[in-house]
Amino acid sequence: MERAVYYFTGTGNSLVVARDIADRIGASLFPIASFKDEKDISVEAESIGIVFPVYFMGLPNIVKSFCSKLGGIGDKYIFAVCTYGGGKGDSIKELRSVLSSAGGRLSAVIGVHMPQNSFKKPGENSTRVLKKWKALSLDIADRISQKKEFYFVSNRLIDLVQIPLTPLLRPAYMKYMIEETGGSKEQSREELIGRIDMVFETNQSCNGCGSCARVCPVDNIEMISGRPVWLHKCEKCHACLNWCPNRAIYDRTGREQFFYRNPQVTFDDMLKQKQRNMIQRNNNQTAM
Ligand SMILES: Cc1cc2nc3c(=O)[nH]c(=O)nc-3n(C[C@H](O)[C@H](O)[C@H](O)COP(=O)(O)O)c2cc1C
Repeated sequence: MERAVYYFTGTGNSLVVARDIADRIGASLFPIASFKDEKDISVEAESIGIVFPVYFMGLPNIVKSFCSKLGGIGDKYIFAVCTYGGGKGDSIKELRSVLSSAGGRLSAVIGVHMPQNSFKKPGENSTRVLKKWKALSLDIADRISQKKEFYFVSNRLIDLVQIPLTPLLRPAYMKYMIEETGGSKEQSREELIGRIDMVFETNQSCNGCGSCARVCPVDNIEMISGRPVWLHKCEKCHACLNWCPNRAIYDRTGREQFFYRNPQVTFDDMLKQKQRNMIQRNNNQTAM
């Protein structure tokens, strides 16, 4: 296997980006969530992609943990693609650091503006945003195929503005997490995010179907007496809320009820995220 793309997603944006790139460069596609219980992950591919959403201006916990377990990446071409509603924040900085501890180095960084999935972004036309990615994907895949070293972000201006703002804004997220979880400053960001599922509640439309528990990429939901119970090992990916067929889950801290799912992704695609098997993109690829 020459090329592998690993992805994590809550509402499908990162899956679409990962899938498009994998298709164009002839890579195998692997869900990061399916590796969550592995202690060590050895990588055979020569080129590796890591595709993920930005959360709270940083790297999702599961992506950090996945990358820290990678072995044999010293001589690989590694590219990262973060998808975001605004900008990459510190996510790439954090990724560089964890990859460096694992002996690897990022060769290419790609930041892709995608529809915001956690609140209604004023004036955002998600169809237009998705089309922009389609237009970009060919060129990006081409550069990756040629193992080029490059840095690309969809909106360079926001990226530049965010660099000095990120350290100022991140404490506000910590404050929100401490307040909503009843946590303390001594707790790590990872711990607090794990418990941030305390903001999720259900309304009277919940019929106990269990779709939320099935779709949760990290098995953070148990159905008890016909209702979801969150187990405090959350990624805050919003899959439970957005894939609920009855719109019965809401974030009680949200300004208004907001739902988003990437239109090119199905519930079954989301379930595949938990399967250990490689998702075959090419007929000539071999299973891991
Ligand atoms: C909990 C949470 C936090 C987020 N934080 C940020 C952020 O700090 N900056 C940003 O630009 N987008 C942020 N987003 C938006 C997502 O990164 C973006 O919509 C992404 O494309 C979603 O990817 P997915 O569909 O693969 O889950 C956040 C989304 C969620 C659910």
